[in-house]
Amino acid sequence: MLAKPITSGEKSKYLHVFGLLGDSMGHGHGYGKVIIFGEHFVVHGLPSIVCAIGMRTTATVSRIRRKNFSGFEVEDLRPETPGYKKEKEAQMYRSISLMCEYCGIDLTRTPIKITFAGDLVAASGIGASAAACTAFARAVNEEFNLGFNDEKINEVAYEGEKGYHGTPSGVDNTASTFGGCLVFLKGPPPKFERVKMPTKVEIVMGNTGLTANTQKVVEEVKALMKTQPEKTKKIFEEADGLIREGRICLESCDYRRAGELMNRNHELLQELGVSCKELDLLVNIARENGAWGAKLTGTGRGGYMVALTPGKECQEKVARAIENAGFTVLKTTIGV
Ligand code: PMV
Repeated sequence: MLAKPITSGEKSKYLHVFGLLGDSMGHGHGYGKVIIFGEHFVVHGLPSIVCAIGMRTTATVSRIRRKNFSGFEVEDLRPETPGYKKEKEAQMYRSISLMCEYCGIDLTRTPIKITFAGDLVAASGIGASAAACTAFARAVNEEFNLGFNDEKINEVAYEGEKGYHGTPSGVDNTASTFGGCLVFLKGPPPKFERVKMPTKVEIVMGNTGLTANTQKVVEEVKALMKTQPEKTKKIFEEADGLIREGRICLESCDYRRAGELMNRNHELLQELGVSCKELDLLVNIARENGAWGAKLTGTGRGGYMVALTPGKECQEKVARAIENAGFTVLKTTIGV
C-alpha cells in the first residue's frame, strides 16, 4: 500500500511535536470569577462562595530566538478598565517572574513572549489577575511539556497571584482553574467543594471604573482587626453564619434569601471599610431597580459590584439602570 504524502499542515504538526519548529506556541485560558459571599473574610479562614463566569483570559507563550535577548516580553491585548494595565504592570511582571521560577524555567536560556487576550475585562473585582495567571500557567505547561494537571496549574497560578496580592487566599485562582461554583477555604492546604446549584441564575456586574490595590486594602482590614478586635470579631462571626446559609440558599434556589444575605454581606464589608461611594451607588441603583440583592465583589474600593437578578427581565432592567447612570456592566449567569 502506498503511503499517503504528508500535507504541509501535518508536517508542521509533527515538527511542533518534536520541537523542531521555532514558532511553536503554548496556549492556555483562565476564567474570570465573581465572589457571591465572603471576600476578605476568606483571607482570615472563613469560607467563600465563588463562581467562575463565562468570560476568560487567554495566553500564548512562544520562544524568543533573538540574539542577546533574555527574560520575557508581554503583549497585552485584553480589554480593560482605563488605566488598569498601567497600574498593574509592575505586579504583572513580578507575577510572571514568580511563576517562571516556580516552574523551573530559565529565562536566560529560553526567553519567551507572552500574549494575553480574551473577552474578560482587565479590571478589579472580577479575577483578572488570577485569570491571567491561570492562562499563563496552562500556556507555559503546554509550551514546555511540563505535564501539569489542574491541581498543579492551580498551584502555579497561586504563586503568580502572590505577585499581585502578596498573601492571596487562593480563591480567585481556584475558581479560574476549575470553573463552576465553589465553596473555598484557604490553606494550607486549600480546600474546595462544588456548590450544587440546580439552576442557572442571572446576575449583573457593574463596573465602577476604579482600579483597586488588593494588597493595600487587605492590609487595612488586618490593621482594623488589630485596632478594633471586638468590633471585627462580631462582624466575622456574623459573616461566618451568613456565608454558610448563603450556600444552602444557592443549593436550594432560595434566591430571595440569598439576595437578602448578599445585602447584609455588603453592609458587613462597609463596616470593614472596604466599600466606596461608587460601589454603594451602584448597589443602591441595582436594589432600587429590582435586584434581589447586591453587594461589592472582590477587593472593593472600586472594581465591580454584583447584583442577583433572577430572570432576563430583571437582569435587563438592572443593567440598563446602571448603564444609564454612566457605568459599564456585564450580564451573565452563575450556576450549573
Ligand atoms: O479583587 P479581586 O478579584 O482580586 O478579589 C480579591 C479577593 C480578596 O478576598 C479581597 C483577597 C483574597 O486573596 O481572597
